[in-house]
Amino acid sequence: MSIQLKGIEKLNDKERLDELINYIKIQIDDESDSLALMSNISSFIMAIVKDLNWAGFYFYKDKEKQLVLGPFQGLPACTRLSLDKGVCAKAYRDEKVTKVDDVNEFADHIVCDSASESELVIPLFHKGKIYGVLDLDSPRKNRFTDLEVEAFTNIGRLIEEEIYPF
Ligand code: SME
Repeated sequence: MSIQLKGIEKLNDKERLDELINYIKIQIDDESDSLALMSNISSFIMAIVKDLNWAGFYFYKDKEKQLVLGPFQGLPACTRLSLDKGVCAKAYRDEKVTKVDDVNEFADHIVCDSASESELVIPLFHKGKIYGVLDLDSPRKNRFTDLEVEAFTNIGRLIEEEIYPF
């Protein structure tokens, strides 16, 4: 597959999200290895969506009862998250898309990159059972609108069975 992201800077937010979904669909059609898919999906997200400083995956490990870092793009991040603290853990516990407009207002937000100001977390399910999350951080407060919530919720549904990593 040749990847041609030239011209992306001319697109608006909606067009960028549509483009992202197209690239993800092509990746899913082309590749079945979950590690390769997760690696490129996090890279596509960072390359196409404006104003993000981190995009990646955490997966639940039953033995340790923690979310453990998966493929991502951005600065090095916390490798393990306990289920009682932070935005990812809340999304995992609630099994719901979780949007935080200002992470400074979220009592137990876990700071991995101090540049992060807002966050969107999408739970991922295999055969109806939650197994991980897709986490997005932005250096802008209120970065994630209904547009991003809808698009990334759709992306979660599109990729969750394809990238199931165990
Ligand atoms: N902020 C997250 C931790 C993960 S990093 O943002 C990559 C949280 O509160 O769960």
